[in-house]
Amino acid sequence: AADARIEALILRMTIEEKVGQLSLYAPAADEILGNPQTGQVSLRQQLDDIRAGRVMGLFNGEGIAGKRRAQEVAVRESRLGIPLLFGVDIIHGFRTVFPVPLAEAASWDPALSERTARAAAREGTADGFRWTFAPMIDIARDARWGRVVEGYGEDVLLTRRFAAARVRGFQTADLSRADAMLATPKHFAGYGAAEGGLDYAAVDLSERTLRDVYLPPFKAAIDAGALSVMAAFNEIGGVPSNANPWLLTQVLRREWGFEGFVVSDYTADEELIAHGFAADEREAARRAFLAGTDVSMQSGLYMRHLPELVRSGDVSMARLDQAVRRVLRVKQRLGLFEHPFRGLQEDAPGAPPRFDGTAHRRLAREAAQRCIVLLKNSGDLLPLPKSGKRIALIGPFADAQSLFGPWRPFPGQLPPVGIEDAIRAQLADPSLLSTVRGSDVESPLDGGIAQAVAAARQADVVVMTLGESDQMSGESRSRTDIEVPQAQQQLAEAVAATGKPVVVLLRNGRALALRGAVRNAQALLVTWFLGTETGPAIADVLFGDVAPSGRLPVSFPQTPGQVPFYYAHKRTGRPDAQGGPGRFRTRYLDATNEPLYAFGHGLGYSAVHYGALEVSPSRMAPSQPLRVVASVTNTGTRAVDETVQLYIGARAASFTRPVRELKAFHRVHIEAGQTVQVHFLLTRDDLLFTGADMRPTVDTGEFDLWVGPSAIAGLHATFMLVPG
Ligand code: IFM
Repeated sequence: AADARIEALILRMTIEEKVGQLSLYAPAADEILGNPQTGQVSLRQQLDDIRAGRVMGLFNGEGIAGKRRAQEVAVRESRLGIPLLFGVDIIHGFRTVFPVPLAEAASWDPALSERTARAAAREGTADGFRWTFAPMIDIARDARWGRVVEGYGEDVLLTRRFAAARVRGFQTADLSRADAMLATPKHFAGYGAAEGGLDYAAVDLSERTLRDVYLPPFKAAIDAGALSVMAAFNEIGGVPSNANPWLLTQVLRREWGFEGFVVSDYTADEELIAHGFAADEREAARRAFLAGTDVSMQSGLYMRHLPELVRSGDVSMARLDQAVRRVLRVKQRLGLFEHPFRGLQEDAPGAPPRFDGTAHRRLAREAAQRCIVLLKNSGDLLPLPKSGKRIALIGPFADAQSLFGPWRPFPGQLPPVGIEDAIRAQLADPSLLSTVRGSDVESPLDGGIAQAVAAARQADVVVMTLGESDQMSGESRSRTDIEVPQAQQQLAEAVAATGKPVVVLLRNGRALALRGAVRNAQALLVTWFLGTETGPAIADVLFGDVAPSGRLPVSFPQTPGQVPFYYAHKRTGRPDAQGGPGRFRTRYLDATNEPLYAFGHGLGYSAVHYGALEVSPSRMAPSQPLRVVASVTNTGTRAVDETVQLYIGARAASFTRPVRELKAFHRVHIEAGQTVQVHFLLTRDDLLFTGADMRPTVDTGEFDLWVGPSAIAGLHATFMLVPG
């Protein structure tokens, strides 16, 4: 019946009304705030367009009054009364700001990320939004790229797991629920592989690497039920993604059976001209639409050209109807036809709140705690005692300003708690804390270093907050230099010269190359951008109420010149075997190939020992699972949450394989002194890769297997995959 209703609607639609369902805009700027580049149309013009059925939806519009007015016009004043769909970039929270995605990846806890997505969807739908442009699941292996912060890091399996969890969290199992939000895995595809880490730059990837590394997270998101996909800005091998029929039709539709709609990125269809892929707007519209981009974001290109393209026969009516059908079916699945005003009514005075802000705040603290990664803790400097020690808090990020990190849609978030306030609140005697900025993020402060050094001298321990501002990562925020900014580095050197023990709290939206006093600090905590509960979560870990349990989702290089840098690299014919002879080896003259901190690395406040490893059978037939059991002991005096990681590497295959690939992981709680047996089951599916004819395959032969605490450590075993 639902389909019949949509077919009946399509039969009644004019060509312009059909193209209207493929045209998405930011709201007119004179009433509603949107992306900074908006404002091309007046509100009056936009309402006229909605009335004429020329608008599919609006995105990133603040507040419910403007959205309600637009919906009233769509539903009550347009000829067919088709409701608008309101979209928004909810990347890591809406009113409550959760850790940035890269930070959540460090929790290695997709279930946690599903809960934060659920909370964000509850808050967003309470504001009338039913569609989010998330999750961003671009694999990112070049730390210069600014958008590393929006995704889940360098690894295929980790990103797949988070992709599926985020989709489930946003959408739930029932998209028609009032608090369900349509998810949009983005950016399809290969966007994170931009040359030189430069945002929007060209990508040149082999089909095999695309299929083995960059596409699987999208497949996982679609298998989890995502019903819209955003095409990426970048080209791959000469074809911009939003005009790539192979990506958008062959892979997405024919191979994966995707049934939702594809939306372009912001004005990306028009940008085909700047790419040099279309001579004019008409050709750009034709190429993007025929390739499979169903909905045009913001450019208005489809509205300007598709009607004529259809009338001239250059685009078939069948393709137009197909795209419209996809959009209307999703609107239908969201329950928009029945309930167009859900989330858009003002609350009556005294009405219960639409979501439990207190519970969300608690969740934000829990999430932030679990994302913090302890890289180093010389002499067990951490945790710090809550009394008896004078602490100097030094650095540009001590207070509550700009804690949220990149990408929050508009102001109106719950007030965040800064590091200084949170530390003070936990100290038995708050007068033991002194705070000095010492430096701005990128420029020195007059007398700042002298003040910082004086404060350090007075203290027993120094806590330094160093790293990147929230303006230093995100879209169009690539950096050639991935170190701590020079002004802060100088501050760190001067403070270290006092000889006082230093804890560094790194704030970062990417892997950083650490040097000098920052690298040599006694304790190093990666705190990313943690959102609303930044301060309390950091204080919880600093003072040991909570043990750190995050693990790196990106490899930290020793020097910026190593990027792109990731653990699952390929071998070469001349590997740099440790201590191997000869000069003609795969290595730099001035750095080894090892990471400073490996993918997967992270410490707790207790030592963990990996004991015996059992793998059976030693000869695995493809139809049989491989059972792996590792015994892991907490040899320290405090409980830990250990993330036990399983990697494999094929010794030889019909196409070369990475040196190691993560295939499974378990986060396990281990009490002090306890030994746990951690069980894994690997199947043939875990060994698949893209073989000849670009088909998934497995090759028989010998495999290495490691179970351990990071991508460069662990117990080792081998097994054979035998025919059968
Ligand atoms: O969703 C985003 C996308 O990730 C980058 N360009 C703008 C879009 C809409 O805001």
